[in-house]
Amino acid sequence: MEILIENICCIGAGYVGGPTMAVIADKCPHLKVNVVDINQERIKAWNSQDLTKLPVFEPGLDEIIKRTRFKNLNFSCDVDECIREAQMVFISVNTPTKKRGVGAGEASDLKYVEACARQVAKNARGHTIVIEKSTLPVKTAEVIKKILEDYQAISSNKNPKATFDVLSNPEFLAEGSAINDLENPDRVLIGGQNKLAINALSQIYSNWVPKNKILHTNIWSSELAKLTSNAFLAQRVSSINAIGALCEATGADVKEVARAIGSDNRIGSRFLDAGPGFGGSCFKKDILNLVYLSKHFGLIEVANFWEVVVSLNNWHQHRISQLVVKNLFGTVTGKKICILGFAFKANTNDTRESAAINICKDLLEEGAVLFIHDPKVIAEQISKDLLVNENKNLKNPEFKNFFNYEASWCFEENIAKAASNADAIIVLTEWDEYSKIRWDLISKEMRRPAWVFDARSIVNEKEVIKTDLNLWKVGNGSKSNDWRFKS
Ligand code: NAD
Ligand code: UGA
Repeated sequence: MEILIENICCIGAGYVGGPTMAVIADKCPHLKVNVVDINQERIKAWNSQDLTKLPVFEPGLDEIIKRTRFKNLNFSCDVDECIREAQMVFISVNTPTKKRGVGAGEASDLKYVEACARQVAKNARGHTIVIEKSTLPVKTAEVIKKILEDYQAISSNKNPKATFDVLSNPEFLAEGSAINDLENPDRVLIGGQNKLAINALSQIYSNWVPKNKILHTNIWSSELAKLTSNAFLAQRVSSINAIGALCEATGADVKEVARAIGSDNRIGSRFLDAGPGFGGSCFKKDILNLVYLSKHFGLIEVANFWEVVVSLNNWHQHRISQLVVKNLFGTVTGKKICILGFAFKANTNDTRESAAINICKDLLEEGAVLFIHDPKVIAEQISKDLLVNENKNLKNPEFKNFFNYEASWCFEENIAKAASNADAIIVLTEWDEYSKIRWDLISKEMRRPAWVFDARSIVNEKEVIKTDLNLWKVGNGSKSNDWRFKS
């Protein structure tokens, strides 16, 4: 016996729902896939003829959308109807950290997930497999199941009663490499109780994922494995950034240390790049969620252990802004500083929790004038993140002195113009184009003494050294003896 799936619905057309369903539609032409969202602007953007206007930028996504959209993949706001048609419903909505009430600042806010469960309860027909795609605290499946079943018990619904299975199928894609991660996953994790439901979902993935990579676990292990996976990755980033600070203090180079420790197979080489601190919508929120859960179960030492991963990350971001100020003679008021990169990592337009936000806010607080460049992030997004509107007047080509414009910023799409007359350039995202900058040309435009602060360790050091620019590279202590540098 098997459960036949012909139509699936995904609630939430975000960074996960959009790309994940696009790949499922591409790999399973026999399935009809509907992606729904309450955000009309987002759905309009997914339906845009111009594929550069899709709401999510991911290398390779536009090609898949071109192949599948309006064939077996559709984006709409008609949530109720799409649930009614589906035998399988993915919940892929946002699960931000709670801002108020019990668990504020740590626990996940499940209001969007709960709203979805209620909407599924109301509209589902026949047997429906409900899948947690969002990252959720352990035991959320219990909440979803209760909402689904209690509605059926009291519903005076004339339609035949619906029945449900709830599965956990967390997503492990990373932004910027989402399509490759979805097409060639290290593993697909499915947690649940009913073998038939698990097999129905496994069947979909087995259209392109080798069977040995589809792992089945109990539902709580699956929910917890997702939080743990992100916590382990973030812990590595905080570990290497902590060692980077020690390298700067001692004359060691974090890249060499990372290479040495990463060559040990037991440690492995990935996620050992020192940077400006981890960003992204999930690491911080998922660790805080783990902290909350640990406290909830009375495991205070466990909570404290994970909390430090986040506090070290915050400390590290402020450390970078402080050392910029220190090296610019203790003040950046009215000084032009060029920021290269605002996205939380390369190859994405996502700025959520980007280290650039804290670092730029700190510098604005100190009175700096920021010229911000990013190949994919738009100025409107930066305004929202910095809570300060863009001052386009700064771009007046006549301006050479910004003393009267303290604590303001503008977007500049030309790197040379962003650097012109600047006292410093700070590299915050590892976009490929920043590793190819012609420092011989850029340096001529900057005000002296001028600095390059490379928080991603990607600039061509040999080229910078040929100029008279001062260089700071994250985690590289070999400059610590330089009389000019104050760490
Ligand atoms: P997102 O904010 O980009 O998208 C979520 C979407 O859900 C939004 O468009 C929102 O309008 C919609 N939504 C909310 N409530 C709704 C409702 N009741 N009905 C219809 N639509 C609704 O979020 P995301 O980055 O796609 O993340 C979704 C989940 O996946 C989160 O739990 C996240 O932790 C997890 N996750 C994210 C990533 C990632 O790389 N972004 C990777 C793995 C897992
Ligand atoms: C991360 C995980 O890698 C995914 O497996 C997971 O599905 C996802 O979170 C999620 O649940 O949202 P993502 O946040 O998109 O993916 O990006 P990562 O590549 O993990 O990078 C996260 C942050 O750590 C970025 O700011 C990145 O620049 C930083 N990082 C990463 C470093 O500073 N150094 C490294 O060596 C690696």
